[in-house]
Amino acid sequence: MHWSKTQSHARFNLATSGVAPFPFRELPIDLNKVEINSDNSNSYGYAPLQQAIAVHHGVDPDCVVESAGTSMANHLAMAAIIDPGDEVLIEHPAYGPILDIAQYLGANVKRFRRVEENGWAIDPHEVRRCITPKTRLIVITNLHNPTSAFTPEPVLHELADIARSVGALVLVDEVYLDAVYDDTPRTSFCLGPDFVVTSSLTKIYGVSGLRCGWILAQPDLAWKMRRLNDLYSATPVHPGELLSVVAFQHLDLLRERARRIVDADRKLLRDFLARQSEISAVSTEWGTTSFPRLLRGNADAFLERLRSQFDTSAVPGRFFEMPDHFRIGMGTNIEMFAEGLNRISRALATPIS
Ligand SMILES: Cc1ncc(COP(=O)(O)O)c(C=O)c1O
Repeated sequence: MHWSKTQSHARFNLATSGVAPFPFRELPIDLNKVEINSDNSNSYGYAPLQQAIAVHHGVDPDCVVESAGTSMANHLAMAAIIDPGDEVLIEHPAYGPILDIAQYLGANVKRFRRVEENGWAIDPHEVRRCITPKTRLIVITNLHNPTSAFTPEPVLHELADIARSVGALVLVDEVYLDAVYDDTPRTSFCLGPDFVVTSSLTKIYGVSGLRCGWILAQPDLAWKMRRLNDLYSATPVHPGELLSVVAFQHLDLLRERARRIVDADRKLLRDFLARQSEISAVSTEWGTTSFPRLLRGNADAFLERLRSQFDTSAVPGRFFEMPDHFRIGMGTNIEMFAEGLNRISRALATPIS
């Protein structure tokens, strides 16, 4: 996160993971209806927003906890579930802040591996091998960050069975799941009480500045998270809640625009990967990120050169504990994406001086 805030900038920035901003002026909104303050009746969640999130997922509003993005959603979810010393089993490679939260909360972090040879899929046997009676939580991302690999329902059911066998829960960060544009899967929260889900509008709808995030949890646990949030953000930014309700009312509009950009970028990425002999990558049908491996040389040194000589950035794999990989983000402006890929090609073809 620190690297992304301070070092990721370049003229051709492929170090993104979300879709380019949706222009505010294109959101059909009556600004006369925007207020700054809410009233006390909404202090544990703005009812129209709770309702919009609940309808979006087909769940009861009592199971919805508002949060400041998926970042706070992950923090609240883990803080409500785990105590210091509890074992938490997290996928590898993982989105760094998920690991950081578990460590910050004093959890004993264990890992299970997703491997490239298996298309980065979750292997339930591997999870079963790593679980212990002390495990309180299994944490995955679906779609997976950094690879965008999709975990289907049968595997999620197996994870739930494994978790249940030791009295643990499964936390699924679904911030990228709606980027499966055809036959969009239902949230894993609908698969049973073993699941806790985090998500937001921040990544694939182009409205990250609203910081509209949420957790789906069983009502008792959801209430614990709302009370815990009294310690953190206390009350949300109300204009953000109002605009988020409008975003939900026009989600199809946001989604169609996002899809056009991501589809166009993915086509470019596929052509680019097919032409490269210096890198390999698992091809995915959906998602906003790809995680190529540099076949020769050091990815950090390559990315340094990419930035200094070609003004192009991608995320170093070391942030996902895979230093020979790097992450490319789709969903940005197509001309910039095309030129960024072009510059990666040139950097790959240029001998190190
Ligand atoms: C898997 C995952 N979860 C959570 C987040 C944080 O999202 P937000 O901006 O909603 O806090 C990110 C951001 O990149 C992410 O990749």
